[in-house]
Amino acid sequence: MMRAPGQDRKGNGKNMERLDKILALHSVGSRREVGALVRRGSVTVNGLPVKKPDVKIDPERDAVCVNGTMLSLHSRVVLMMNKPAGVLSASRDTRAETVVDLLPAQWQRRGLFPAGRLDKDTEGLLILTDDGGLAHRMLAPKSHVSKLYEAELDKPATAQDAAAFAAGLQAGELTCLPAELLLPEAGGATVRVRVCEGKFHQVKRMFHAVGKEVLRLRRLSVGGLWLDPALAPGEARLLTPEEIALIFDSAFRLQI
Ligand code: URA
Repeated sequence: MMRAPGQDRKGNGKNMERLDKILALHSVGSRREVGALVRRGSVTVNGLPVKKPDVKIDPERDAVCVNGTMLSLHSRVVLMMNKPAGVLSASRDTRAETVVDLLPAQWQRRGLFPAGRLDKDTEGLLILTDDGGLAHRMLAPKSHVSKLYEAELDKPATAQDAAAFAAGLQAGELTCLPAELLLPEAGGATVRVRVCEGKFHQVKRMFHAVGKEVLRLRRLSVGGLWLDPALAPGEARLLTPEEIALIFDSAFRLQI
């Protein structure tokens, strides 16, 4: 027998949320739009058509389909953003615009925060989540999640710089773990660098230590997860469970 929405095997409702709220949180549409969808009969819960937008469901247990497509109703939200330059990697700031300010309204209410920081002038892949455990796992040194950056420098980097990065630089007071500096075959001052730590101004300080200044910095990937090229600066989208797993793909651990 099909379970009624929000009932566990003992028939008790737990972790209950309104269906229209859950649908809106998962970007199916605005609260008004999802209400209309439900009343039209486009939504089923555990295989049964539901006509009331305010019916309570358990997002951890109930199977919700919209027009026949199953939604992934994890209680956590994990987003990738193409961070533009000029915006703070923070949840809220009284004076400056933050990455959370750029999110659509339904995600602003989720208490999302950036998992790791990019400098205000750094662009590219930023993960935002409300899952503290995931953020911790991403950032913990023992996870060895590497990050790949593209850096425009004031002058071309050299093979000597690459060797210094690979050996583990001393950048002022900062002792860096080995990093991979990828020089462009065609020459030029735009390079890629893969690091597995995220200290304050890490990449800029590493280049400064070898006599180069970073003019522009963009993060391309975190672990095996690449920035979606379809995301314009400032745009964000949900990650699929497969994409979240890519962050921890051991093939992208730095092994030098
Ligand atoms: N390294 C930097 O110097 N800045 C960033 O934003 C990220 C890594």
